[in-house]
Amino acid sequence: MSDPVTTWLPVPIRTGRVVVRPPDRGDEDAIVELFTDPEVRRFLGGPVEPEVAHARAAEIVSGATRGQFVIVELATGVVVGSGDISRKRGPWEISYQLRPASWGRGLASEAISALVDWFFANTDEDLLIAVTQDANARSARLLERNGATLATRFEQYGALQRQYEFRRAGQVGPEGHRVRV
Ligand SMILES: CC(C)(COP(=O)(O)OP(=O)(O)OC[C@H]1O[C@@H](n2cnc3c(N)ncnc32)[C@H](O)[C@@H]1OP(=O)(O)O)[C@@H](O)C(=O)NCCC(=O)NCCS
Repeated sequence: MSDPVTTWLPVPIRTGRVVVRPPDRGDEDAIVELFTDPEVRRFLGGPVEPEVAHARAAEIVSGATRGQFVIVELATGVVVGSGDISRKRGPWEISYQLRPASWGRGLASEAISALVDWFFANTDEDLLIAVTQDANARSARLLERNGATLATRFEQYGALQRQYEFRRAGQVGPEGHRVRV
């Protein structure tokens, strides 16, 4: 097995209510909506300018950057979220966003939990992190609900950040707790 971007999602992941798959042509509008929505971007540095969002969406659907995903609601076929697994600051890191109309239904948790399982099943990595602003209570709840452990807090972009860790089942986290068993 190799790193997650070279093994990246050859088969879409299907859960009870969502499919997680690499972005494709036709997903541009949904991705732009996520980049430009002030509520989605509240703890992510604010909305992205539309022309920048369009350029990023075009790059994402081209497949040039692996590790990107979209979350599709099975019942409607609508792209309700997106994210990526990449090395932003060293370890592999998962980021995610869902459009506000789809919050509070457990859809993001379903997708992230399936991706974390996929990550540890398809790579040799023992650690996957997620960084979220300390004030982003919804994101913190999602991570804790799905087995991530709060590892550290630090300042970045003028805000207090929390770094969470997902570890391979049976691995020991920094505080000595066994996690994801
Ligand atoms: C972070 C984010 C994805 C969380 O979305 P979410 O919908 O709250 O997350 P979940 O999928 O875990 O849903 C859990 C909520 O759905 C509720 N829920 C309702 N039906 C449910 C069901 N069938 N199954 C599970 N949960 C359900 C839960 O009670 C929970 O509500 P609560 O947190 O108020 O207790 C979303 O707020 C978001 O996109 N934010 C903007 C982007 C961002 O900040 N990303 C994080 C940094 S990378």
